[in-house]
Order: sequence, then structure tokens, then C-alpha cells
Amino acid sequence: MLDIYTLGEDVLREECSDIKEFDESLKILADAMIDTLEEADGVGLAGPQVGVSKKIFVVHIRGSEPMVFINPSIVGTSIETGVYEEGCLSIPGVYHDVIRPVGVTIQAQDLNGKPFTIQADGLLARVIQHENDHLHGKLYIDHLEERERERVVRSYEKKNKIRRKQKVRV
Ligand code: NI
Repeated sequence: MLDIYTLGEDVLREECSDIKEFDESLKILADAMIDTLEEADGVGLAGPQVGVSKKIFVVHIRGSEPMVFINPSIVGTSIETGVYEEGCLSIPGVYHDVIRPVGVTIQAQDLNGKPFTIQADGLLARVIQHENDHLHGKLYIDHLEERERERVVRSYEKKNKIRRKQKVRV
């Protein structure tokens, strides 16, 4: 299990660097990220969320195999947009509707450095866009209007304090 970094940590706001070595340590990182994602009961996890400022994210949608995207780049988006309530393991406990294109085409490399292209829609397209944002220091709350974003952040901070108090009591 890797530690998940939360809102306020600088690593979540950095532009990630390209991955150049497709070695054993990369496979170990990807495996650990998939395990961490599963343990946290999420659908996607990006490098910065585990303190690694590199272009890698993993996606695991229930009922399908986990997927690893390295050095990804979104090369196409649908004109049609949709609304979906998003959350983030780095901003636990709060959710908000986000408008995004319903379909994307993404190019990336696999764990061996082999390039691939995926055309996705539905939940997969949503998760890909959310995770890809993380690699550029962007969070889903950045897509919201300022007032909404502040409301979500306040709510997150409030919930976080409650959690800390409970921890102290235990
Ligand atoms: Ni996230």
C-alpha cells in the first residue's frame, strides 16, 4: 500500500515528467498503484497522488482488467459533453458534478514502452480525463466555478477536521 497524498500537497500541483525507463521498478510502481487503488475502492489513481511526479496513471473499472497508462496524451475529444459526479482519492469525502467531453481518444505507452491508442466513452472516458489532469497538476475542482470550488474545499476541510477529532478520541 502506498500513501495517498491529499489536497494541499505540492506534488498534486506539479507538471509531471515523462517516464523514460521501462524497467522492473516501473512495473513494481504500477502494481503498487493498482493495489492501492483497489484498497481505497477507487476507479483511478495517478502518480502524483502517491507522491510520484511522473506521467503514469492506473484505471480499474469493476468488471474489467486494470489498465496502466504511461506518458499519456489525449489526442481527441468529443464535441458532446456530459455531467458526472466526480470525487477524488486526494480530496476524500466530497463529490461534485463536472462537465467534460463524453468521449476521448488517448495515446499512451504500456509497461514495456509499447504505444497504444484507445477510444473511450462513458465512465472510462471520464476516468481517463480525470487522471490525465492529475499529470498536469490539475484537479477536478479546477473545472468548477470559483464559488462552487470554494464550497467543495470548505466541505472537504470540515469533514477532514471531523475525521481528525474522531481519530484523537480513538
Ligand atoms: Ni483524482
